[in-house]
Amino acid sequence: MKLSARSGLVAASFALSIAVGVALSRGAKTGAATASASARPLIGLSLDTLKEERWQRDRDAFQKKADELGVDLLIQAANSDDTRQMQDVQALISRRVGALIVAPHNGAAMAKAVSLAHEAGIPVISYDRLITGADEDLYVSFDTVRIGQMQAQALLAAVKGRRPIRLVRIQGAKTDNNSFLLKQGQDQVLAPLIAKGEVKVVHEDWAEDWRPENAKKIMNAALTSHGHAIDAVLCANDGTAGGAIQALSEEGLAGKVAVVGQDAELVACQRIAAGTQSATIYKPTRLEVGAALDAAIRFIKGRPVVARDELDNGFGKIPTVLRDTVVVTRANLLDTVVKDGYHSYDEVYDGVPADARPKRP
Ligand code: GAL
Repeated sequence: MKLSARSGLVAASFALSIAVGVALSRGAKTGAATASASARPLIGLSLDTLKEERWQRDRDAFQKKADELGVDLLIQAANSDDTRQMQDVQALISRRVGALIVAPHNGAAMAKAVSLAHEAGIPVISYDRLITGADEDLYVSFDTVRIGQMQAQALLAAVKGRRPIRLVRIQGAKTDNNSFLLKQGQDQVLAPLIAKGEVKVVHEDWAEDWRPENAKKIMNAALTSHGHAIDAVLCANDGTAGGAIQALSEEGLAGKVAVVGQDAELVACQRIAAGTQSATIYKPTRLEVGAALDAAIRFIKGRPVVARDELDNGFGKIPTVLRDTVVVTRANLLDTVVKDGYHSYDEVYDGVPADARPKRP
């Protein structure tokens, strides 16, 4: 093994030991490490919303995995309301949960939740979305910058030949750090092409609270300004992609304009099968949920947590665990979401005439 590779390996494992140490020391600092190892762990889960299908799946996956692991789980959902989410967190703290997992509606607003939990000796895991300006003990998510890159690459692949690509960009909620990570990844792919004049962003805006109806308004505004001179729409997730496709459909453009989203929602996979959406990003919920619950249990039992990455959240470097995702297009629906059991063959091809469907696996 070459010295450089070897030293790289050593460096990686050294970093790993540092990362492991950082995660444990945070847990120990909040007193979680002193929690009795024998009691059945009680974990609190505070979700922003259950509005999107993916969060309903997260909730169900958390409950299923918690049952398998023999831990008790208290789940709260705040309906995209910051005040409500703070109340939810305070209620979970008062129930003396051994660890708190939070998917923040507003990453900055939930910094207070971390302080309150730490005052009560409870470690906090930022789930899927980063809490900013606080020293949470761990961040568990998918690689969202990478997702942004994958979205942009899938969109470019879907617009065959045409240059410059006249592009509409519909970003996510500005309260969600993921929206900025997605844009960062997309920009890494698009910026050189924009500079060369191969891509032209004709309209861009942010969909408040990720609401499909807000995405539809943005798409309507783009169509009003540019008519049918639009080749592609890059949407932050499948909910906003659905709103954009509704607006396109009203103009008879559904299926004629490339649209990319994220989350592999069933309706998005159905649109991909039918040809009105070009691609989505499949984020295997079980991977993210499993990593979060495993870390929470380790914090409670005072065991080390392996965190190979770290992300600066404005307060400092947060130990980070990231899971991988995969691009889903019409070509690989069967090999991804259907093979994984995320959606069934009949669900995905529900709107597709039997003679136009791929062979049932
Ligand atoms: C993001 C999440 C996406 C998307 C969105 C809407 O933070 O990473 O998967 O669904 O929220 O809730």
